[in-house]
Amino acid sequence: MAGRVAAVIVAAGSGERLGAGMPKALVSLHGRPLLDWALDAFTGHPDIDTVVVVAPADAVPAVRARVGHRARVVAGGASRQRSVDFGLAAVEPDVELVLVHDAARPLVEAPVISAVVARLRQGDQAVIPVLPVTDTVKRVDPAGRVVATVDRTELRAVQTPQGFSRAVLLAAHRAAEQRSLTEVTDDAGLLEALGVAVQTVPGAESCLKITTPYDLWLAHRVAPEPDGVPVPDPAGRTAPDPADLDAPTNPADQAVPEPAVLSESGRPA
Ligand code: CTP
Ligand code: MG
Repeated sequence: MAGRVAAVIVAAGSGERLGAGMPKALVSLHGRPLLDWALDAFTGHPDIDTVVVVAPADAVPAVRARVGHRARVVAGGASRQRSVDFGLAAVEPDVELVLVHDAARPLVEAPVISAVVARLRQGDQAVIPVLPVTDTVKRVDPAGRVVATVDRTELRAVQTPQGFSRAVLLAAHRAAEQRSLTEVTDDAGLLEALGVAVQTVPGAESCLKITTPYDLWLAHRVAPEPDGVPVPDPAGRTAPDPADLDAPTNPADQAVPEPAVLSESGRPA
């Protein structure tokens, strides 16, 4: 399948759980807004022809100034689903394939974008990157008692970018609207509801989603550091001395540290 490929980066959320006092997509990762990281990944990718950024309504002028000619910028809506709708409406008519990506995943990797586009070009109408679930998963009742252990071999955690035939994604969003669904956070789910087959490709562990302050702390560890500037560890940790790795360890020493409360810069608040 030929045809142009668009990326729609949804960045209009308020980031309440991150609690940075500003829209999450504008929060800094190594000195640059999360949005910039995602934008670079798509504008610099050979498979992506055009990019739409969906920004918080009151931040549209600022985001436009920052993005320049690299992407169209439109205002988002009250839910992610609405923001995707507005982004889709801004995609040029000659676009055939659309990748929808969360700005909250700034560390998206080029091979994942390539894999999603490749499957779409092979004829799949919906393609999502996934990771195996590595934790043991239990089903619990409202009182917190375990009801069952879920077989995780069939489970996958879903990432973005999710890729679609533009026509099918539009139809799915229209169908959702007709059923008065406005809060769906998973585009692929809308297509599943229509009976469209959704194909998976391998995601990337580094493409983590930033939801909480801990996630932002983690992203600072995962992201490539700016040239030559050592990144201070907000919790004061240092890399382990390899010699210590063989030493007998006290399990108490391995307790997971409290997530650091971070300012927008990723440094201690
Ligand atoms: N998003 C959006 N428009 C909305 C809500 C969310 O464009 N009305 C985007 C976010 O900017 C984010 C992605 O959808 O890139 C995933 O949403 P989420 O991680 O939930 O971000 P927020 O809604 O901003 O965070 P929170 O739910 O904690 O407020
Ligand atoms: Mg949200």
